[in-house]
Amino acid sequence: MKRFRISDLLLNGKPGEQITVMGWVRTKRGNKNVAFVALNDGSTINNLQIVFDLSVFAEEAMRPVSTGAGIRVEGKLVESMGKGQSVELQASLVEVFGAADPDTYPLQKKGHSLEFLRSIAHLRPRTNTFGAVLRIRHHLAFAIHQYFHQNGFYYMHTPVITASDAEGAGQMFRVSVLDAAHPPMTPEGKVDFSQDFFGRESRLTVSGQLEAELGALALGLVYTFGPTFRAENSNTPRHLAEFWMIEPEMAFFDIHDDMDLAEDFLKYLITFALDHCADDLAFLNEMYDKELIDRLKGVLANPFMRLDYTEAIRILQESGKKFEFPVEWGCDLQSEHERYLVEQHFGKPVILTNYPKDIKAFYMKQNDDGRTVRAMDVLFPRIGEIIGGSQREENLEKLLNRVREMGMSEEEMWWYIDTRKFGSVPHSGFGLGFERLVLFVTGMANIRDVIPFPRTPQNADF
Ligand code: 4AD
Ligand code: MG
Repeated sequence: MKRFRISDLLLNGKPGEQITVMGWVRTKRGNKNVAFVALNDGSTINNLQIVFDLSVFAEEAMRPVSTGAGIRVEGKLVESMGKGQSVELQASLVEVFGAADPDTYPLQKKGHSLEFLRSIAHLRPRTNTFGAVLRIRHHLAFAIHQYFHQNGFYYMHTPVITASDAEGAGQMFRVSVLDAAHPPMTPEGKVDFSQDFFGRESRLTVSGQLEAELGALALGLVYTFGPTFRAENSNTPRHLAEFWMIEPEMAFFDIHDDMDLAEDFLKYLITFALDHCADDLAFLNEMYDKELIDRLKGVLANPFMRLDYTEAIRILQESGKKFEFPVEWGCDLQSEHERYLVEQHFGKPVILTNYPKDIKAFYMKQNDDGRTVRAMDVLFPRIGEIIGGSQREENLEKLLNRVREMGMSEEEMWWYIDTRKFGSVPHSGFGLGFERLVLFVTGMANIRDVIPFPRTPQNADF
């Protein structure tokens, strides 16, 4: 008997058909004549209702068919009288693959807090909430590849292990096989990394950008999409120590082309989610955030506001708002500032440009004023910064000056600097934090709830 996935059955199932389904029991209710089982197989947020005639199925056979059990059912599809479902299954045979003891199964009851679910990360994908989040996450990842492929970009794999510190922020995890208790030492009393696996100190990457630039300067349009790691001790609802980043890099793009691409890209992804994840979004809208779908559509409705950092500082200073972190020209904007601009002042996403050079990375193109760089950050409602990017400094002398000013090592960066010696061209790129995107699209409040296994300070258990 043919096995169907529940998403297919609910869409195209024909009453009268004899079929097989497999899945996990979500709930069982009923009376002494009949049992109703809601079965979910992960293909959709919706369950298939299965009706067991208890004059056919013995009580003993039905006992292990309890919440959490993995089962296979054969039967006949019939039109459903129940609200909100087209078909249900009249069971003729049930096989229990694995029972789930009602006394110890942690998801026996509904309505657990998200905090509790984090402590059972191995089981939380079985909840409606995480099923929805993980399906949306998948669709967004797929849409990202589709967007770039359709727009002539090549997917480039950049290394996870690296010796360079792309963002110059020094928040990297070391990769080493040396004995932590007794590392080899140099005569000067330092750890001798020349004896380490790579013959030098190496770390997990914070960004694939520098390598993506090498690709863009050959292939024109490239993007990376991979895991990145930051050992910053920020225990916030928007920071992970391991997160995924999408980084397109475009030869011959200036900062305006960069912003146009970022806006088009984000709108494409949100549209894709609305089109392909309607059931999951409706569930999250209902359960967590009644404004979710309106907020997503709101982002699509208008062009993003574009303005200078300097202008943003003026708006914040004149707002009369008391911020936790004071605002003055030269400060790095905090998420309270970013959200004020987006949510209260403009009421739509904002792209800020021309930031002070002292708070941005060495590779950003310097403006003629000598104090700002052609950076652009995209700020979103509820999230704050969702994208950070810039036009890159393509001028060799200016880049070298900046490398020296910031006390970076020219020798270590020789390969990057080389690209400004040979066929250097204007180019730009940006980085989109994948989990921040998923956070925005799902309306979840904490970034730990949009990645299957969050890595945060003091937490890498499973
Ligand atoms: O602004 P960031 O640090 O920019 C870069 O890394 C550039 N190399 C990108 C580029 O131009 N190719 O990071 C980019 C984005 C941020 O806007 C944010 O969305 C996300 O990455 N991000 C984080 N997401 C989760 N947890 C963290 N700790 C994050 N740090 C940055
Ligand atoms: Mg940034």
